[in-house]
Amino acid sequence: MELVKLTAEEFDRIAKIIYDRAGIYLPEQKINLLSNRLRKRLRALKLATFGEYEAILKDANRCEEELPHFLSAVTTNETYFFRNEDLWNFFSGDLIRYLVETKKGKPKTLHIRSAASSSGEEAYTAAIALREKLPDFASWKISIIGTDISKRVLDQAREGVYNDYAVHKMSKAQIKRWFVCKDDKFHLTDQIKSMVRFQHHNLRDPFPGGRFDLTFLRNVLMYFDTPMKKLVIKAVTDSMVPGGVLIVGDVDPIRTTPELNEAMPCAYQRAGVYLKPGGGTAKLNLERAVTA
Ligand SMILES: C[S@@+](CC[C@H](N)C(=O)[O-])C[C@H]1O[C@@H](n2cnc3c(N)ncnc32)[C@H](O)[C@@H]1O
Repeated sequence: MELVKLTAEEFDRIAKIIYDRAGIYLPEQKINLLSNRLRKRLRALKLATFGEYEAILKDANRCEEELPHFLSAVTTNETYFFRNEDLWNFFSGDLIRYLVETKKGKPKTLHIRSAASSSGEEAYTAAIALREKLPDFASWKISIIGTDISKRVLDQAREGVYNDYAVHKMSKAQIKRWFVCKDDKFHLTDQIKSMVRFQHHNLRDPFPGGRFDLTFLRNVLMYFDTPMKKLVIKAVTDSMVPGGVLIVGDVDPIRTTPELNEAMPCAYQRAGVYLKPGGGTAKLNLERAVTA
């Protein structure tokens, strides 16, 4: 049976819907990728052509129901626990020390956000690293939130059940400590699950009430064009406290784009690490910061 493919015109129209809804920019070369991903939605909805699928996306009533599936189909959700060893070494040492210092003489609270959390590995890694390394852990009040545009990955995150790829960077001892292994799957213990919650959110929108001491924004900016990146930088940094830390991904497009550098209100520290001005006297040691 011949595989149904997007025409160039269909691609343009559907790519525009993706851009308008999620800010994700798909160049023409992605036509085969998009065809492959959306073919699964055609099958699920028992549709014969992309034209029929487009009609659903353009129908205000039917679109609301399809949109979460559509966005889930077109986003890239690659992630795993302890992704980027350098980052997590930095987190477990100098970054925790800095966060502790910022709270001297204040309530011992930490608000952490994994923006574009995908299926939760980054947010849960932060929870695990804090349990392992934060001095006097029990005396802290910690809230960690993961946000993403894809409802499918958020459901997976809330379930907290992972395959062996997700945990491939963890030691056996860590896996044993923080997961229960059942039916070849790794189930996070409630100790870790209960530290994190997940919320649907589009990165370009403000995050009302957000006062984050630490925000991860890794491996997502590269999907956006410059105007969208600017919107995201503003929305994300607005929701950080003065002195808050922003961690961006292995590939940091901000550094290499003058327009984004100008739009970034946080001060570059070194690869992957930014600090929002206006904090107290705490000093962030960067000896072992993230390497790009
Ligand atoms: C590659 S994953 C990154 C996961 C994790 N931060 C990491 O670095 O391992 C990118 C995530 O960004 C999400 N995403 C894409 N566009 C988004 C948007 N406009 N708002 C919120 N999340 C978005 C996708 O759904 C996907 O889960």
